[in-house]
Amino acid sequence: MDLATVMKAAREAAQNAYAPYSGFRVGAAILTEGGTLRAGCNVENASYGLGICAERSAAVAMALADPEDRKIRLVAVASPNAAPCFPCGACRQVLREFGCKGVVLEDPAEASGLRHYPFEALLPHSFGPEHL
Ligand code: THU
Repeated sequence: MDLATVMKAAREAAQNAYAPYSGFRVGAAILTEGGTLRAGCNVENASYGLGICAERSAAVAMALADPEDRKIRLVAVASPNAAPCFPCGACRQVLREFGCKGVVLEDPAEASGLRHYPFEALLPHSFGPEHL
């Protein structure tokens, strides 16, 4: 599956964002090692601190959908409000849990409109399940 297809799923998920407080809409699409797409969007809350980011909601959707296919090959993140929209630190750690290998973001500076980052570039020297 190509990067553009994964990004399309992230853009579609952003349309379902529940962001009445920030107005900042985000979608994420995870491509699993098994070749399946799992999407998520940010879901905010009147108790502001309870909001969840798009990347983590996609990771939860993936974990729920198929316990046999919980490795992340790639995650795409899209927002109509910012390009690129980098995953926050908390989301990087949650993606790390599931072995995320790469992140693709919208980037108007690139000819393709997309930029791929090896996961290690976004969260170097990370802590993960194999350290326990
Ligand atoms: N947000 C995400 O969903 N993902 C990101 O990568 C950055 C931030 C959300 C959290 C909150 O609902 C809104 O964007 C503003 O921070």
